[in-house]
Amino acid sequence: MKTRYTFPECAERSVLDEFILGCDIMAEIMAVIRQVALYDVNVLLAGESGTGKEMLAKIIHLQSPRAEHPFIPVNCGILSGMMFEDKLFGHEKGAFTGAVEQKIGCFESAHRGTLFLDEVAELPLDNQIDFLRVLEDFRFMRIGGNEMIEVDVRVISATNKDLKGEIKKGLFREDLFYRLQVIPIYLPPLRDRRNAIPGMVSHFLNQFEALYNKPKPVLHPEVIDLFVRYDWPGNVRELKNMMERIFIISTNKTIHVDDLPPDFLWHFRESTETMDLAEVRKKAETGAILEALHRARGDREKASRMLGISPRTLRHKVQKYDIRIDRIGGTFPDP
Ligand SMILES: Nc1ncnc2c1ncn2[C@@H]1O[C@H](COP(=O)(O)OP(=O)(O)OP(=O)(O)O)[C@@H](O)[C@H]1O
Ligand SMILES: [Mg+2]
Repeated sequence: MKTRYTFPECAERSVLDEFILGCDIMAEIMAVIRQVALYDVNVLLAGESGTGKEMLAKIIHLQSPRAEHPFIPVNCGILSGMMFEDKLFGHEKGAFTGAVEQKIGCFESAHRGTLFLDEVAELPLDNQIDFLRVLEDFRFMRIGGNEMIEVDVRVISATNKDLKGEIKKGLFREDLFYRLQVIPIYLPPLRDRRNAIPGMVSHFLNQFEALYNKPKPVLHPEVIDLFVRYDWPGNVRELKNMMERIFIISTNKTIHVDDLPPDFLWHFRESTETMDLAEVRKKAETGAILEALHRARGDREKASRMLGISPRTLRHKVQKYDIRIDRIGGTFPDP
């Protein structure tokens, strides 16, 4: 399995190099992103906080024919009413008290590039109407202006709320929703792609080693097991912060479970009595093996390649954990 994605040369390679796939789900999402990036369709990225929506929005932009033009992020959560209009459409000198000079809004700044509407669910209803109007023909006037300005902008939005739920509550316009989400992309939480965790851990350690110019510690396998087990409600952001924390405070060459911050270990206070790490490993590995066999439609060689182990090791683990392959049997529905 490919853990990295190879991007073409471009101005802002860092975000592309930093993005870790680490699992099949993300590799599939990245294949969609690569296609979507080529066309000027509006994309709505949905997923919990910290799942990488902003990174992916930048990647779509950098993969698109608009890559040489600006990527302008707007946080819809902190703006409302006139402030939102001002931020997006700008104003003319003298448009209101304090408008001492002309100001270009985000729509104009993003001309020929991409406008990223972050936390779009927070957009107040009144502003949703203005916004929908602009998305129809990409023409608007600056506040206090009388000249129609036409822009060529691609819109990517992101939300960590269920927009359909917001529509039902009357907080989000259905017409705007369909306008924004021509292509919906859902980023699963980290707990639903646990097999990406070990790769991310080593990636972040390498990153901090370079950043802080300090040799990185080695994490004991039991530490990795705990990381794979933990649910990471803050997703990749929380994992990255944890790695930075460990990196900064570590004085030992090897980090053992006891060296982890007590508030992190606290999450395991009940289950540590009932589940030993061998059990945890068995559960995690059994799940991954069944998933791989399912995806490979029963082809053991293909499954072992997906798992990054030899067919012999796969056979050994199937026997050791008493995995009943016959139960997933000859019928493999399309993954
Ligand atoms: N796949 C990934 N590989 C490497 N780093 C990642 C990945 N996903 C997220 N990150 C890191 O996690 C942090 C959060 O990512 P990002 O800001 O893109 O998330 P988000 O979904 O926009 O979160 P929020 O909803 O809170 O704004 C960033 O520091 C980013 O570098
Ligand atoms: Mg974000």
